[in-house]
Amino acid sequence: MTGLPKAELHLHLEGAAPPLFIRGLAKEKSVDLSGIFDAAGHYVYTDFWDFLKVYEAATSVLTTPEDYHRLTLAVLEQSSLSNVVYAETFLSPDFCGGRDVGAWREYLAAIREAADHAESHHGIILRGIITCIRHFGPEKARETALCAAETAGDWIVGFGIAGDEKAGEPKDFSYSFDMAREAGLRLTAHAGEWGGPESVRAALDDLKVERIGHGVRAIEDGALVERLAEDGIVLEVCPGSNVALGVFPDWPSHPIARLRDAGVKVTVSTDDPPFFHTTMAHEFDRLAETFDWAEDDLKALNRTAAEAAFCDAATRETLMTKLELS
Ligand code: ADE
Ligand code: ZN
Repeated sequence: MTGLPKAELHLHLEGAAPPLFIRGLAKEKSVDLSGIFDAAGHYVYTDFWDFLKVYEAATSVLTTPEDYHRLTLAVLEQSSLSNVVYAETFLSPDFCGGRDVGAWREYLAAIREAADHAESHHGIILRGIITCIRHFGPEKARETALCAAETAGDWIVGFGIAGDEKAGEPKDFSYSFDMAREAGLRLTAHAGEWGGPESVRAALDDLKVERIGHGVRAIEDGALVERLAEDGIVLEVCPGSNVALGVFPDWPSHPIARLRDAGVKVTVSTDDPPFFHTTMAHEFDRLAETFDWAEDDLKALNRTAAEAAFCDAATRETLMTKLELS
């Protein structure tokens, strides 16, 4: 399905860093990152919590706005090979300037400049969702939310939370989400990946998000599935990520088809593609072969993504055209 244009709503910028790019940067800066790569040069980790450590180690070599400029170019070039025409990426002021608003503005300017370049060269549109990191705690999240509020606008379109779902409670982060909402940002939260249905409910009730990152463990609770369907909550489903990290043992047992058939709005994304040996083209191919989904089923994922994208109306119209849906 490489040829089909695609939209993805759930992509961590650092998590999308090609290992070769990170190894190159580590060499330039004389940082020893050998422990996080296998003999073939791929990222290596043992479970989700080790994945978070490896992710943060790889991210440690990204220390300047120029590094993020190069990263953004590398990531978007990769995405365009799958014919991704629109992506929303999670950006973390924690990693970009240590949550200092002035420094964050410099990182953001560099990322935007690279995104503009990629749009004119590859036709891919990028927008940013500022993301706090749950296991860094609520105090740091408030500083992250301030960075988000200060730079909310036409390009920074949303606010979210990633990281260890087992750390703290969504309500600990209500203040930050309220600040982001008041600044006009749209809201999403990682939930229902490592936490069960109660975690998804808490994200909806305490953070008042309109999209859920993953959300797939909602399948364990029929009443919650009904609520998601009735309220039109959009799930940013990342099946390849879930299988690679062991949330589900294999593609046939992944609940995306059951959620869709129950009326839940589902979209598909890669999360951290090189960590999970995936691409958007690969995700679409696996969905087609596992669930016998036809091109129309895959196009429906794109339509849901376009409708749920946090971009402005004019960008959505452009996106619909690029996705051949209008
Ligand atoms: N950060 C990067 N990838 C993540 C994931 N799958 N879950 C939570 N936090 C993340
Ligand atoms: Zn994620």
